[in-house]
Amino acid sequence: MAWMEWTEEYSVDIVKIDDQHKKLIGIINELYEALSIEGSKKEAINKVIGELYDYTQYHFSAEEELMRKFSYPQYINHKSAHDNFIMKVVEFQNEYRQGRIMVLSVELIQFVRDWLFNHILTVDKQYSSFFNQQGIK
Ligand SMILES: [Fe+2]
Ligand SMILES: [Fe+2]
Repeated sequence: MAWMEWTEEYSVDIVKIDDQHKKLIGIINELYEALSIEGSKKEAINKVIGELYDYTQYHFSAEEELMRKFSYPQYINHKSAHDNFIMKVVEFQNEYRQGRIMVLSVELIQFVRDWLFNHILTVDKQYSSFFNQQGIK
């Protein structure tokens, strides 16, 4: 069983977005594995953090584009939640590069998992019926 698992409970009722969330969860599991393996190369961990950063940017942009396209009323709040998360990931990336490895392994991975699950359930799910009504499913 993977450390972080997508289940129907996390569905936002839009196939494309669910697929992106699944992919994001896959990268977080990869990061968890990289951090768990003793003697994991720093470059390997850095690479997965980079992937997490890139894919998160991609996913947030996709959601934000959809929100702008349909003038979603909660756009500003939703985007600022995304921006805060990105800032946090950059912060962790910097701390890691500065050598705080052990702290990072616990802090980063738990923060990322909790944030994403909570964001999907409370913030992302708010747009489901709005987009469904626009024919986005
Ligand atoms: Fe999302
Ligand atoms: Fe979101």
